[in-house]
Amino acid sequence: MLLPIPGVLKADELALVRSWLAGARFVDGRLSAGSAARRVKNNQELDAGAPDLERLNRLVMGNLTRHPVYRAGALPLHAASPSYARYQPGMAYGDHLDDPIMGADGVMYRSDVAVTVFLNAPEEYDGGELVIRTSFGDQAVKSAAGDAVLYPAGSVHHVNPVSRGERLVALTWVQSMVRDAAQRELLYGLNAAREKLLQSAPGAAETAQVNAAYLNLMRMWSDL
Ligand code: NI
Repeated sequence: MLLPIPGVLKADELALVRSWLAGARFVDGRLSAGSAARRVKNNQELDAGAPDLERLNRLVMGNLTRHPVYRAGALPLHAASPSYARYQPGMAYGDHLDDPIMGADGVMYRSDVAVTVFLNAPEEYDGGELVIRTSFGDQAVKSAAGDAVLYPAGSVHHVNPVSRGERLVALTWVQSMVRDAAQRELLYGLNAAREKLLQSAPGAAETAQVNAAYLNLMRMWSDL
């Protein structure tokens, strides 16, 4: 499932994020890539020692964690600290899979879900689409500033070359309570129906049945 998450960052928050990133040091993105991804990765990433990194992470992850679409789509158990990538003209990231295990210092996560938060407007750069290979063909994503997209971390994806301007994104990876992408997608659809029924027909027998099915499928499929 490729799920758009609208409005993760509001205009004033985006301005703040942009101002923090504007003066920060970026390093070669290949430094954080595994050996296979390194061959196709050509971007820059915010230096781990950036002075505003903690405030930046708190804002981005705080907003994401509170977002109902993210919560229902990712069913997050653990999320990695975000990284911030910049693509200038000529930069791209070829077809790759994200690392299956993330984290450090004894705190390791499995990456089930990948999230890209778009930090600048699509009009500010040419190219730079995030292209995700799905069973229905390639899907290209170039979202509005402040919006995000969530997709299975195990899908092959790439970033098209940027030919003008600059592409700025935040990325994070989530270990989901539900490991299987198809099960997460079923739960997402069932939960949407359940929430509508709880609003429109809270006392109906079918609402209770759908609610029970959702809760017990969560119990059946989640591992913590
Ligand atoms: Ni990737």
